[in-house]
Amino acid sequence: MTQKTQVGLLFGGNSSEYEVSIVSGRNIYKAIDKEKFDVHPIWITNEGYFANEEESFKVLEDPTYQVQDPYKVNNISKLIELANLPELDVFFPIVHGNLGEDGSLQGLFRVLDKPFVGDDVLAAAVTMDKEFTKILAQRVGVPVADWISIKRPEYNDKTNAKLNYDVVSEKLGGDLFVKPSNQGSSVGVSHVTNAEEYKKALEEAFKYDDKVLVEETIHGSEVETAVLGNDDPIVAGVGEITNAKGSFYTYENKYDDDSTSKLQIPANLPEDIVETVRSNALKVYQITECSGMARIDSMLTEDGRVVLTEVNALPGFTNISMYPKLFEELGVSYTDLITRLIEAGIERYNHKKTLLHKHD
Ligand SMILES: Nc1ncnc2c1ncn2[C@@H]1O[C@H](COP(=O)(O)OP(=O)(O)O)[C@@H](O)[C@H]1O
Ligand SMILES: [Mg+2]
Repeated sequence: MTQKTQVGLLFGGNSSEYEVSIVSGRNIYKAIDKEKFDVHPIWITNEGYFANEEESFKVLEDPTYQVQDPYKVNNISKLIELANLPELDVFFPIVHGNLGEDGSLQGLFRVLDKPFVGDDVLAAAVTMDKEFTKILAQRVGVPVADWISIKRPEYNDKTNAKLNYDVVSEKLGGDLFVKPSNQGSSVGVSHVTNAEEYKKALEEAFKYDDKVLVEETIHGSEVETAVLGNDDPIVAGVGEITNAKGSFYTYENKYDDDSTSKLQIPANLPEDIVETVRSNALKVYQITECSGMARIDSMLTEDGRVVLTEVNALPGFTNISMYPKLFEELGVSYTDLITRLIEAGIERYNHKKTLLHKHD
């Protein structure tokens, strides 16, 4: 019998998506193919500590479990101690937010010289930044909402024309979205239609980032697709988010128990629209050099335009999340999806090993 692959499953983290990550970790642990893999859970607590395997197993059994003794856990800077786990063959990070999704954790795995699931450093960093994503999407002809970006020093200069609602709405219209360039879960995102709201929205968004995007509002519905793989990626079908309460897909609509948002999978859309969503997604996946996985989100207007919103390098991964559901629709079960993602991470690592690094 061949030996099982030892998987280090990282979940939790101190982001707004902490609870989702715990549920994802728990679901992955339950569904992973136990014939092929042994799971070693590594729980990063909401306070940013990382727990030992024994504690980590407890939270997988019971998501409400808290660390009893804070001295039992280590500070997050000690994540470098992952180096002391040579028995692990591959890491599966399901940690959302800045640390998990922006290339930082991916950089650590590279330094540790271990394979890992999901996007590599460059793609994670680029897709975390909504402005870089838009610039690259435009490069391959994928439509994006027209925008301006405001950097902290510009914001600090209160005479800067970008802070003037009337000036900005001349370029983008008066119906605007304001958002941190690097964030997720709709945190710090506002919809504004007047000068007063614009001022407040900028203040809110600058709490989270040093760069804020102001976009024209795209009226329509939200459609998403999922991509899996490295050099020859598979693009799943299209799902649609329906019936979101209020003006847009807010944090509450995404996560609250009483949210009325529903995922319609597959979306009930004409074939040509589905194909546009899918082909745009593939172009964006490739130009941002994604590998492993990404969920690609767009707005669909009433006149049939598909406008890219963002790329999620680490999409929600509970067994009822859009990403796994879209693959289930294709006939790839949640268990098989986990296997394929791990295999893609190992394949990328093995390939990189074949590259020459010497300059002589
Ligand atoms: N330009 C836009 N036009 C219309 N709705 C938008 C626009 N930008 C964002 N939204 C709404 O705000 C939500 C969150 O914005 P998004 O850019 O996806 O950030 P996040 O990374 O926080 O999910 C979207 O799902 C959508 O409902
Ligand atoms: Mg989004």
